[in-house]
Amino acid sequence: MRFPEDVPELSDDLVTLRAHRPADADDVYELCQDPEMQRWTIIPVPYSREDAVGFLTEIVPSGWQTEHGGQHWAIEVDGRFSGSVSLHGGEGGVGEIGFSVGPWVRGRGVMTRAAKLAIRHAFDNLGWQRVIWRAFVGNWASRRVAWKAGFRGLVVVPGGGMARGVRYDEWIATVGRDDELEPQGNWWKVPEFDGGTFRMRGFRPTDAQRVMEACNDERTQHWLAGLPSPYELHHAEGFIESRKEALASGEGTAWVIADAVTDELIGNISIFAMHGRMNSRPGTIGYWMHPEGRGKKVMTNAVRLAIGHAFTPIEEGGLGRRRLTLQAAVGNTASAHVAEANGFTKIGIGRAAAPGREGRWDDDYIFDLLPGDPRP
Ligand SMILES: CC(C)(COP(=O)(O)OP(=O)(O)OC[C@H]1O[C@@H](n2cnc3c(N)ncnc32)[C@H](O)[C@@H]1OP(=O)(O)O)[C@@H](O)C(=O)NCCC(=O)NCCS
Repeated sequence: MRFPEDVPELSDDLVTLRAHRPADADDVYELCQDPEMQRWTIIPVPYSREDAVGFLTEIVPSGWQTEHGGQHWAIEVDGRFSGSVSLHGGEGGVGEIGFSVGPWVRGRGVMTRAAKLAIRHAFDNLGWQRVIWRAFVGNWASRRVAWKAGFRGLVVVPGGGMARGVRYDEWIATVGRDDELEPQGNWWKVPEFDGGTFRMRGFRPTDAQRVMEACNDERTQHWLAGLPSPYELHHAEGFIESRKEALASGEGTAWVIADAVTDELIGNISIFAMHGRMNSRPGTIGYWMHPEGRGKKVMTNAVRLAIGHAFTPIEEGGLGRRRLTLQAAVGNTASAHVAEANGFTKIGIGRAAAPGREGRWDDDYIFDLLPGDPRP
């Protein structure tokens, strides 16, 4: 193909994809100074003005002129160059998408729109069967774009990505030509609830110290014997970081129960195991309290709010659960009390169901709750 005359212009009502121009150099240079851009892509670091000129006058034109080379479009919004989206490969009907936008337009859905325009073009005009998206693990903004554009079947490839000689774990997902370019599965948001003396909110990295204290506490360690022992700061940090994956994959959600005045963590509630078969929409509630928060009915009240959210339909912002379960180690009276005070029914004992200390397996009481059950 000839560059720039054969580059098709693609647009919706906000975003235009067009051929790059030499005059885009200042904006390309500015975009490539952005720390996110340097962290998550394979551009040279440091990135010079000559790099920007080389991208526009060599890399982009030669991509278009080479069969199965990179087809790069400039993304234009409000008359300004705002980023690039590219399609690479295409041999055998499969190729990859790559993208970036400047900090000056992020968070407005620009990238999602640009990605959809490029993907539609790949299917409708280039005859592609499948588009592959790849990102370094931890690039949540890119993952969110991929999710919103309909990519699915996400896998992690350890060490699958490389930038500037360093290997990184990689996420890969794909979308096929007959797939809808719409989100697949739920990506939960954590709503905030006001409980009077406490509030419920999402986790922050700064909660790690309090998570560690709570999970190292003797009673927590006794009843949640599967926790690492000792429970160290890196365990807490890993737990907090892993909540993002739980939310993004739809597997689980978690709140910090925080003191209403100091906002300090006093407990945790999670709803997890939400991937059910045959639209069964299950969920399991788990919780623990920091020793400073115990004995004040906070957990009973927080679980009530969590249940309300769990049974609220997805269309209304809830989790749309059909049934909730809860397990408490036999003998854990405080935990069983929280369950029963919230209307859960004890339905049996899970024999040797829970990890105990010293390699033992302990029995669990199993509780469940249906939306129609009487609740206080
Ligand atoms: C990835 C990138 C292109 C996204 O651009 P964008 O225009 O902000 O994308 P969109 O507005 O279409 O969507 C971004 C979504 O990510 C969300 N998001 C941003 N940061 C996030 C984070 N840390 N965690 C979770 N979601 C995040 C935004 O809220 C938005 O979702 P929403 O519309 O549901 O609120 C942009 O951040 C970028 O250029 N990053 C550097 C280059 C890069 O990483 N490229 C991809 C390499 S694989």
